[in-house]
Amino acid sequence: MSIPKPGRVVLLASAAAAVVVAASVAVIGPADAASTLGASAAQTGRYFGAAIAAGKLGDGTYTGILNREFNSVTPENEMKWDATEPSQGRFTFTNGDRILNQGISMGAKIRGHALLWHQQQPSWAQGLSGSALRNAAINHVTQVATHYKGKIYAWDVVNEAFADGGSGGRRDSNLQRTGNDWIEAAFRAARAADPAAKLCYNDYNTDGVNAKSTGVYNMVRDFKSRGVPIDCVGFQSHLGTSIPGDYQANLQRFADLGVEVQITELDVAQGGNQANVYAAVTRACMAVSRCGGITVWGIRDSDSWRTGENPLLFDSSGNKKAAYTSVLNALNAGGPTNPTTPPTTVPTTPPTTSPTSNPPSGACAASITLNSWNGGYVANIRVTAGSAAVNGWTVTVALPSGSAVTNTWSATNSATTGTVSFRNVSYNGQIPAGGNAEFGFQGTGAGPTATPTCSAG
Ligand code: XIL
Repeated sequence: MSIPKPGRVVLLASAAAAVVVAASVAVIGPADAASTLGASAAQTGRYFGAAIAAGKLGDGTYTGILNREFNSVTPENEMKWDATEPSQGRFTFTNGDRILNQGISMGAKIRGHALLWHQQQPSWAQGLSGSALRNAAINHVTQVATHYKGKIYAWDVVNEAFADGGSGGRRDSNLQRTGNDWIEAAFRAARAADPAAKLCYNDYNTDGVNAKSTGVYNMVRDFKSRGVPIDCVGFQSHLGTSIPGDYQANLQRFADLGVEVQITELDVAQGGNQANVYAAVTRACMAVSRCGGITVWGIRDSDSWRTGENPLLFDSSGNKKAAYTSVLNALNAGGPTNPTTPPTTVPTTPPTTSPTSNPPSGACAASITLNSWNGGYVANIRVTAGSAAVNGWTVTVALPSGSAVTNTWSATNSATTGTVSFRNVSYNGQIPAGGNAEFGFQGTGAGPTATPTCSAG
């Protein structure tokens, strides 16, 4: 999206050198150690971001850490409804643009946050209801997404729309009272305004398998089955002193629906376990190939919205805390490469996931994981190289009659029904010996039952 600054070029050159050294001694294993959060995450195609505030960009300690460590930014408040449309139809993007330009200057991804939310609405919107509010909300989505068109990596289109507690249902709000379809209307408007942005649903207390996260899961599955545009789910992860034991399993079940998962607002109460909880969250994201990245909700403890809890990676003077080191180590330990966000600025390192089969030298094999529901499915396919590297691959899948491909990611398909060939895209055609690549598709009807075949070259 932007031309890297000179400082960043030096960083990339040294990362490239480290990869060459590793290759010359034929080390295939964890990603090579990097010394900053962003560079380390980038080695597996992920980002490591921070929520930032426009009012702090003049603080040299703050921007020093920001420029050094992070390759994604989220506006902490500057793109919310009250900030961007303070009176109806009058849009102000000054502070949002400051965040955007800071991100562009860093060569970072920019997460947009948040188009619709029951909090931080301008007072004029709080006073509306019914079709007047619905129309105003959809216009807001359209205008803001259009202003930032082509510049946002992922938008939190809807924030915190599910109720806490055991109902698994929607939260009551003025937006919810305009009709249960307000969320899908917002996603469709966002897609129409900025087709390149990934569109996320974002929430809190959805960090383990529970009634609330299952409510979100059912909505995402329904959206996927009906073709409502949704690309990602954000897990805020404002954590206390522990992490749900099924945190990774929860991320994985969403990933298996064919959406990217992202940790969007991570902060962890200070206490004996802070570094361990941070490490566990990072390891979980690294273990889920469709986990695109992690954002912490602030830089220094003194920047946090959780006043007095010291929940961040840097102390109030800007020094690295133990939690910082535990996160960096977990990133450097590597994991399967993220298939949807190929690293474009740092050479890819060999994936560390074990092959699922042992194809002969020069050949490839494919295995399929299906997630089906009544009337549709998502298929995730892993392509594994044998004892020699593969340069280009084609996976052939036989679809049962009545089944049709509706959406493919990380590959291109030759047809939508019958015998369908999936060809690699530019960034995942080359697979190192013993390594793997992943792609997927969504279909209607029943999913394939036969094992796919793979041909290399
Ligand atoms: C918080 C900001 O950090 C504060 O500065 C602001 O006063 C309130 O909002 N979930 C979200 C974020 O999605 O937007 C919230 O950010 C924190 C909870």
